[in-house]
Amino acid sequence: MHLLEKENSKNIDEFRKGDRILYIDGVTVSFDGFKALNNLSLVINYKELRCIIGANGAGKSTMMDVVTGKTKPDEGKVIFGKDIDLIQMDESSIAEIGIGRKFQKPTVFEEHTVFENLELAMKADKSFYKTLFVKMSSKERDEIEKTIELIGLKDLYNKKAGILSHGQKQWLEIGMLIVQSPKLLLVDEPVAGMTPAEVDKTGEILTDLSKEHSVVVVEHDMEFIRSIANKVTVLHEGSVLAEGPMKSIQENEKVRKVYLGE
Ligand SMILES: Nc1ncnc2c1ncn2[C@@H]1O[C@H](COP(=O)(O)OP(=O)(O)OP(=O)(O)O)[C@@H](O)[C@H]1O
Ligand SMILES: [Mg+2]
Repeated sequence: MHLLEKENSKNIDEFRKGDRILYIDGVTVSFDGFKALNNLSLVINYKELRCIIGANGAGKSTMMDVVTGKTKPDEGKVIFGKDIDLIQMDESSIAEIGIGRKFQKPTVFEEHTVFENLELAMKADKSFYKTLFVKMSSKERDEIEKTIELIGLKDLYNKKAGILSHGQKQWLEIGMLIVQSPKLLLVDEPVAGMTPAEVDKTGEILTDLSKEHSVVVVEHDMEFIRSIANKVTVLHEGSVLAEGPMKSIQENEKVRKVYLGE
């Protein structure tokens, strides 16, 4: 802990690229004696795009559950920013302080337009009264328009979300997270079920996003990971097996053996 305190004396608003924003230390999660996470330690930096890979059951989604407060660990520390102890917080407070999560299945409001979906997401944290009666400020409108551009749905902003393709719905849902201005975005298997063109576009969106936010992406699609990866973390049986640039991961003996099945 003293290490963290020394390095992170700033508040998140003063963070610069490279400062650590998420600190997971010695986290263990047991389900009926089975350790889904086993003494997991992991650090994510501010405005970093981190890819997390690992076989089915390696603990990737459980790691996200712990960060978002869905699951409480038996042991270990989870610190956000300078000194925010996430273990003491519930799911909604964790979302409020700027940690957004995208689950695998898109959950957009099909009967509303792309624009309205983003507007609703932006106002989700405001009171019902405000959502209904307060006109959007031009700043909010600009923010939504900027997001629509980023997620590549400019031509469809006025269309009902129900008509979007699976990939476009995934992008819209990423957009719905962005308008809530998260500091850290956790994205679980974003390209499952996408066409190759959609996979490419998703890589561009996440890369763009990481210029403003810290982004953690879990994915099985290795080609996709290769296309976006800076630093890759390999999870295996609930702990980190290897970490580094994609090239070193691909050449890593342990990884080849247990994960790539060679
Ligand atoms: N609520 C739970 N109760 C019991 N066991 C669980 C629970 N959640 C996860 N597990 C188990 O913990 C292990 C890790 O699961 P997790 O979902 O984190 O893996 P994952 O790396 O996300 O895998 P995948 O790539 O298949 O999504 C698995 O063996 C899973 O069956
Ligand atoms: Mg999973």
